[in-house]
Amino acid sequence: MVDVITEIKQLRAEIDQHNYRYHIQDEPSIPDAEYDRLFQKLQALEKDHPEYISDDSPTQRVGSAPISGFEEVQHEMSMLSLDNAFSEEDLRDFDRRVRERLDGLLEVPYACEPKLDGIAVSLMYENGELIRGATRGDGSTGENITHNVRTIPSIPLRLMGEGIPNRLEVRGEIYMPKAGFNALNERALAKGEKAFVNPRNAAAGSLRQLDARITATRPLEMCCYGIGVFSGGEMPDTHVDSMQQLNRWGFKISRYLELVEGAQGCFSYYQRMAELRNTLPYEIDGLVFKVDEYQLQKQLGFVSRYPRWAIAHKFPAQEEMTQVESVEFQVGRTGAITPVARLKPVFVGGVTVSNATLHNMDEISRLGLRVKDWVIIHRAGEVIPKVVRVVVDKRPVDAEDVCFPQSCPVCDSDIEKIAGEAIARCSGGLSCSAQRKEALRHYASRKAMNIDGLGEKLIDALVDKELLKSVADIYLLQHKDIAGLDRMGDKSADNLIAAIENSKSTTLARFIYSLGIREVGEATARNLANVFGDLSAVVEASEEQLLAVPDVGEVVAHYIKTFFVQVHNLDVVTALQEAGVHWPKLESNNLENQPLLNKVYVLTGTLELMSRDDAKGKLQQLGAKVSGSVSKKTDCVVAGPGAGSKLAKAESLGILVLDENAFVSLLVSYGVAAS
Ligand code: IVH
Repeated sequence: MVDVITEIKQLRAEIDQHNYRYHIQDEPSIPDAEYDRLFQKLQALEKDHPEYISDDSPTQRVGSAPISGFEEVQHEMSMLSLDNAFSEEDLRDFDRRVRERLDGLLEVPYACEPKLDGIAVSLMYENGELIRGATRGDGSTGENITHNVRTIPSIPLRLMGEGIPNRLEVRGEIYMPKAGFNALNERALAKGEKAFVNPRNAAAGSLRQLDARITATRPLEMCCYGIGVFSGGEMPDTHVDSMQQLNRWGFKISRYLELVEGAQGCFSYYQRMAELRNTLPYEIDGLVFKVDEYQLQKQLGFVSRYPRWAIAHKFPAQEEMTQVESVEFQVGRTGAITPVARLKPVFVGGVTVSNATLHNMDEISRLGLRVKDWVIIHRAGEVIPKVVRVVVDKRPVDAEDVCFPQSCPVCDSDIEKIAGEAIARCSGGLSCSAQRKEALRHYASRKAMNIDGLGEKLIDALVDKELLKSVADIYLLQHKDIAGLDRMGDKSADNLIAAIENSKSTTLARFIYSLGIREVGEATARNLANVFGDLSAVVEASEEQLLAVPDVGEVVAHYIKTFFVQVHNLDVVTALQEAGVHWPKLESNNLENQPLLNKVYVLTGTLELMSRDDAKGKLQQLGAKVSGSVSKKTDCVVAGPGAGSKLAKAESLGILVLDENAFVSLLVSYGVAAS
């Protein structure tokens, strides 16, 4: 029988190994429940034999009693900062300077890594055991946060593997992943506490706790990016080799660590990472390029606070501060009244932003926003810019409350607000010129009736001249009404009249979509057309019959019914048909006639025999859903030339893949013409 101390040691080694697989390699080796059993077994043994408890036991991470204050720590080697590059040119200048100092070396190998947005820390290990964790502080003096770093699962308490040096100082960034940050803030708000401003502040706040039991509940991680002190062992010759060695000893390193050649290699890494940036589970504010060979780093040396052998290439900031000049209220197609902040223009996330939606009054109250306040604008990727918070400290004395209008700011009709709904609406319907303009824009848009040339400005002018009172008036427009308007000559007027004429020949699905019924998008319109076959059947359908249509739930069924019982809407529909709007007759397709009902298709790559919109339409006509991403739920991927990651994912998941020819044969087999 093994003695207790051996059993304890074996359990610790086993748990450390599972921790490594889970936190460092992202490949859990056993189910959580099994891990918990091992952990509880170790806890029980240590409870019965407290004389065997040691600091490096995995049970000792949960947080000790609070400390009274933070001690100062002198770093044996300064923790330096990095110089910044903001453009490709800055990066090339950096590389040129490096090569000049290295006697005109032609191409320098660079190690590339993401620049994590967290808190820089130093971890000191002696004989393989974590003895101290410290913040960077001013670079020479930091604070002792050993009690807190010990609670972070991706920080080893004891190193594993071969060749462990006597003394090792590991440097890296402690950060909070986005998902953990959001969950933490949700918990805080639910308890009526203040939310953290961003993941970096949350990480900093968590590390500044005197009570490590609090830190232990925070979802922190550490990723290593360098070595400070190293003695009593064999140090690798390059940065990449060192990182891989740290990984073998039990540390997390970036999965995006890469070795490239020269400035060109760095720049192409930058372009790849810029695309990935918003999909990463943590925030990065740039990349770091480091001369890979330590020998060359040594030759290059330092200037004041920066090494000459490394540079941070910053991404455009995704958060900037600006001032709200006014708050205006816009009226949308369905009458929804939306407050919009007019901002002092600010460059953020790669574009200049001068407006940001504030959604509704609840959002304004949540932000506590006043006119003239300074605010933080966030814009990431292609998403709409957002006001994330007010900088209350900078509030000017003349800041004013935002007043919601008492009546529609465009037509003065009454405003309706349904109890429990955040959105207030103008009750004017199509008598409100703002709603009319939006309805006309929607009717003429590409996916609706596709009237080329009837754009936003022209619609505004025609409505303001009272030439367009409803969408049906489009078909009454004459050359003389259009020619002579701002930027409209004879030729453009002729073209527009021709485009209007052309639009008369359409499909039932497009026609239903173009009516602008609330919540009836393209897919729902197509389903309605397929199921009912003709317009009168849709107009007369009961809510119950509508509910049988794919994608139509109670709310949408109610909106459709409400639309078609209103006489003024029916008048417009009749007027449009009388003006000559028509579509080919469809066979009514009851649900059993949809052979691909609820099958999920993904289109990827270039389609050469038909447009992507056509392919989507035909699939929807057969009942399929068309999704933008491949998952386990995907039934089939149609891949044209140039298909990339979606095709690869489909293949790895064993999903049926059709090329375009096979896809066309499938359509034909269901009686759907290919074009
Ligand atoms: S190397 C001498 N690598 O950026 C080189 N720093 O402005 C020292 N950072 O204080 C830093 N990710 O907190 C390095 N992959 C990375 C990094 C990184 C984030 C932070 C670090 C440092 C600051 C430098």
